[in-house]
Amino acid sequence: MSPFPNAVVAPSHILKLLDHLHAISSQQESQITAERLRDKQGFDEFMRDKLIALDQDKCWFVYQTCLSIGAKNVIEAGTSYGVSTIYLSLALSRSSTIYGHTPGKVIATENEPSKITQARKYWQECGDEVERLIDLREGNLLETLAKDLPDQVDLLLLDIWSPLALPTLKLVQPNLRKGAVVITDNIVGSADRYKDLIEYLKDGKNGFNNINVPYSKGLAVSVYQGRQA
Ligand SMILES: C[S@@+](CC[C@H](N)C(=O)[O-])C[C@H]1O[C@@H](n2cnc3c(N)ncnc32)[C@H](O)[C@@H]1O
Repeated sequence: MSPFPNAVVAPSHILKLLDHLHAISSQQESQITAERLRDKQGFDEFMRDKLIALDQDKCWFVYQTCLSIGAKNVIEAGTSYGVSTIYLSLALSRSSTIYGHTPGKVIATENEPSKITQARKYWQECGDEVERLIDLREGNLLETLAKDLPDQVDLLLLDIWSPLALPTLKLVQPNLRKGAVVITDNIVGSADRYKDLIEYLKDGKNGFNNINVPYSKGLAVSVYQGRQA
């Protein structure tokens, strides 16, 4: 049992909602089989109405990272029903209080209309503190992230289907500030599917310093140092 169960500073109705959504997500994930993951068409069908939220302990880690680096602008690749988005938004709000800056935005991305509608409802339920900092870009993230990014992105959360991870990173990389953090979920559990991303992150000339934090199925934490000359 952890002596520090939750670092997230938020009103109780938000914490309750988050606990509830994580519980639903865990229950749904217990139904995902290896066979389903291999079946491309079945996979898309099955995932269409699933939360597949980032695990709660990983969300706490992302929240703490945002506070530590004083994050102002973050990008979330893969929003689904907006669970990790809520943590990111709370983190930007808290970070602005700690460091005394004006908060930027959580740029969220989702292409499934029913998920977009429900995510917006959850954010509304959280209230203005969460809602006001979210810029949800609807549609294919390879298009919606291709323009209007902040000059300095502090953190990129890659919680997206694996073939999209590297293209997304390459799209956002020019706007990553030195010291920005890229967090990739399931880097161990999905290592096969992340081969191209892992090779890219490991290649020193691309400017990333990487570790795996040993949460369930792994969580890659990559610090951007700028491209090597
Ligand atoms: C793992 S889920 C994200 C979970 C979310 N981060 C959370 O913690 O609640 C990945 C999401 O990416 C969405 N997605 C897949 N392909 C996409 C694309 N090309 N553009 C935008 N979103 C996409 C899926 O519909 C899915 O909801």
